[in-house]
Amino acid sequence: PKPSVHTEQGKVIASLPTGDSVQVLLFGATVLSWKSNGRENLWVSDAAKLDGSKPVRGGVPLVFPAFGPPPKDHATGKLPQHGFARNSHWEYLGSSSSESGKLASGGDDSIKLDFGLSHAQISDDAKNAWPYDFSLVYSVTLAKDGLQTMLNIQNKGDKSFEFQMLLHTYFRIDDISKVSINGLGSTSYIDKMLNATTQTQTDPTVRITGEVDRVYTDIKQDTTSILQDGKPRLDVVREGLSDSVVWNPWIEKAKGMSDFEPKDGYKKMIAVEVGAVDGWQKLEPGETFEGGMICKAHL
Ligand code: BG6
Repeated sequence: PKPSVHTEQGKVIASLPTGDSVQVLLFGATVLSWKSNGRENLWVSDAAKLDGSKPVRGGVPLVFPAFGPPPKDHATGKLPQHGFARNSHWEYLGSSSSESGKLASGGDDSIKLDFGLSHAQISDDAKNAWPYDFSLVYSVTLAKDGLQTMLNIQNKGDKSFEFQMLLHTYFRIDDISKVSINGLGSTSYIDKMLNATTQTQTDPTVRITGEVDRVYTDIKQDTTSILQDGKPRLDVVREGLSDSVVWNPWIEKAKGMSDFEPKDGYKKMIAVEVGAVDGWQKLEPGETFEGGMICKAHL
């Protein structure tokens, strides 16, 4: 048996003979589901809009070319929070099963889906707000040992541009009170809950006991691990990226998001996001940048 791919209702769905699967919504090229060993690894809100009226609340929204509210004095200043990539209709470029990427298995054991977005394909509002010629190729590879998502960014124009990028992954967990996060020890972070002051992660383990919104920067270890009840549940390996955001909205913030359901869903999710969001990456005409992650699920 070989991997299979089909499209339905604006989604591309790929499965491996093992039963593992991935679903990608063309709107935002948002990964909506990643199942391995019969288990869903991503959290999507019951009230998430999948019709293109707003970014998807859950899965893996793509943040580009600005993270958070863009600074008014920067070239991205007129864009919405987190940029336009998660708000745009991407093109499905096709699938291949020969390239194994960095995952151990290749050939029939893996399938790669490619999605594209270029300057010509974004809304007029976004074009006017950010008038740069670019091309994005987002590759989602499902393999039996994990999921790889890589964003390739190219400057196709004749002037340089600056950007930030982030894969805003909402991981599904059983119970936030039993979750711990390893791999961020000794790292500096910007704590958005503490007036964006810079702190240091002294405890090697992060636990979530309230609203958390932290930008860990220049992380030395490649892998950040999510543990459930002290047992490894998910590993997130940064590829060409050195920042990670850890976010959980907790009770009040979840209440304030109309598309966040159920309201106690914050107990079932943790966002561990990989990116280049500290300062700006610059691309000269013709240059490319590539960054992403490999996620591995433990039984
Ligand atoms: C996180 C940010 O990455 O995304 C948070 O650090 C933000 O500050 C969160 O609240 C969700 O953003 P949005 O635009 O999807 O509601």
